[in-house]
Amino acid sequence: MEVLIAQDPAEAAKRAADAVLDGLRRVDGHRLVLGLATGSSPLGLYAELAAAVARGDVDFSETLGFALDEYIGIAPDREQSYRQTLLNDVCKVIGLPEANLNVPDGMGAARAEIAAAAAAYDAKIAAVGGIDVQILGIGTNGHVGFNEPGSSLASRTRIMRLANQTREDNARFFAGIGHVPTHCVTQGLGTLREARRLVLIATGAAKAEAVAAAIEGPLTASCPASVLQLHPDVVICLDEAAASGLRNREYYDASALGFQVTV
Ligand code: F6R
Repeated sequence: MEVLIAQDPAEAAKRAADAVLDGLRRVDGHRLVLGLATGSSPLGLYAELAAAVARGDVDFSETLGFALDEYIGIAPDREQSYRQTLLNDVCKVIGLPEANLNVPDGMGAARAEIAAAAAAYDAKIAAVGGIDVQILGIGTNGHVGFNEPGSSLASRTRIMRLANQTREDNARFFAGIGHVPTHCVTQGLGTLREARRLVLIATGAAKAEAVAAAIEGPLTASCPASVLQLHPDVVICLDEAAASGLRNREYYDASALGFQVTV
């Protein structure tokens, strides 16, 4: 696990974009597959990716995108749906074609239909060869994707009830808490762990406790993001505020200096 602590959110976004591009550079011989998070945390990262596109360093016109999650009951053409959010905040920004964007289907008529579509989403990720780089944020309660505390560390894409904390945190995108959906479809922790590289970005003091629990706490379903400890290629990009709860800060800073042999 690589923990990179930047002075401010802008620098954290640059570091996270570099980690994404580095992961994509390793892809050899197949179409790039990028896992996309919504929310406020990765917006700077996406802007940095757009800058990389403008410089000619990368091209997402052939890339497949897979969303982490979608609300249940919000039609895909509504502004608050994660499909629309990703189209506006990511696809248009980095040049990933709409036709290449995959988002879980939260609009089935019955639970069984949504559950079947969720299982098919996992199968689709597998069919394209898996996700090369998965971009992640973290909830104030330690969720990744919408895997709320208590989620199985082996879970697959499925229906989840949103925690009250998550609904409160996301009420800013709706006309009040009463309008925030109660359920979603999310990639499972087992699903997202299969991505070849995970890049998590977190900024702001509100994330400090969850970040510390994820990186330095025990591996536990009570902090779903702690599952990242099991992954062999994780880069976590933080600003000072989000890093403020970490005990091993000195070690992360020294490690970030790179490889040196001192005798
Ligand atoms: C988004 C997602 C969530 C968010 C998390 C943080 O697709 O799956 O895990 O990454 O809730 O949200 P922000 O970045 O808005 O604080």
